Amino acid sequence: METPVRIALIYGSTRTGRFCDTVVRWAAAEIMKTGAFELDQIDPAEPLALHERIKRADAFVIVTPEYNHGYTAPLKALIDQVGHEWHAKPVAFVSYGGISGGLRAVEQLRLVFAELHAMSIRDSVSFAAAHERFDEQGELREPERHRRAMVRMLGQLQWWALTLRDARNARSYADAAAGALVPPAAPVAAGTQTI
Ligand SMILES: Cc1cc2nc3c(=O)[nH]c(=O)nc-3n(C[C@H](O)[C@H](O)[C@H](O)COP(=O)(O)O)c2cc1C
Repeated sequence: METPVRIALIYGSTRTGRFCDTVVRWAAAEIMKTGAFELDQIDPAEPLALHERIKRADAFVIVTPEYNHGYTAPLKALIDQVGHEWHAKPVAFVSYGGISGGLRAVEQLRLVFAELHAMSIRDSVSFAAAHERFDEQGELREPERHRRAMVRMLGQLQWWALTLRDARNARSYADAAAGALVPPAAPVAAGTQTI
């Protein structure tokens, strides 16, 4: 049995009356339904013990809206407060917005997390016209498609989280990032070239 992957679920909006609460509630419920993860919800409006919580997490799910074709300033401020604690860990995205479903924000976040030595997960969950997709109680009107996308994304996230946790425990990523190479088990003959 593996120690469960610990996900930090991060709010992308601090706006008063934010829709983010609805999307986070849905995402947290879907994550907990799997029974495979521990969850820590991090709100940039209350960034308590941020370094420690990012450090303890094995994986991240960012719930991001789209503001003017990008992601929000409070989310960038949160990301920039922390450094090596992001390294060699996977990051997945649940996005929402108008016609684009927040996908432009996600594509920008992939660039930011590449700089932070983090692994962005290929599949994401996206809510276009998000306000119309949830009812007054915050329930998805047609949950199946987004649920399937979430399951696929979480499968990929767990694979990377377990793989990278083992790798970080086996060998310092800081050393590798500085250029330290693992010597081969047997010497490579001089002049050997594989084409
Ligand atoms: C300043 C601002 C800019 C926005 N720009 C976009 C945009 O470029 N594309 C889009 O699809 N939706 C855009 N929206 C709509 C938001 O994605 C939508 O209102 C969402 O609910 C905002 O998230 P929040 O309520 O959690 O803060 C914008 C909203 C705001 C407040």
